[in-house]
Amino acid sequence: MYVCSCFGITEQQVREHADTGACTPRQIAGACKAGTDCGSCVRKIQALLGRGGCPRREAPDPVVLTTATTTAATATAVTAASVTAAAEAA
Ligand code: FES
Repeated sequence: MYVCSCFGITEQQVREHADTGACTPRQIAGACKAGTDCGSCVRKIQALLGRGGCPRREAPDPVVLTTATTTAATATAVTAASVTAAAEAA
């Protein structure tokens, strides 16, 4: 069954991309463009990923969680630095 009619992407193709490491709709889009045109399929892709389409969502990897935490902390630091720079420029 088609998930993304804009690019002719099936549920099976989404699952295959998830099996090879694409665990978010953005990563699925990077792998096959699904969700990058009208966007109406993004919720269907999210549902597939949440229903065992992505093995990593079934069993969270502590290393992945640590990386995500580090990325969030880095993003916060960058945002704070940007705000400080903008305030100094004003
Ligand atoms: S149906 Fe997937 S982008 Fe339009």
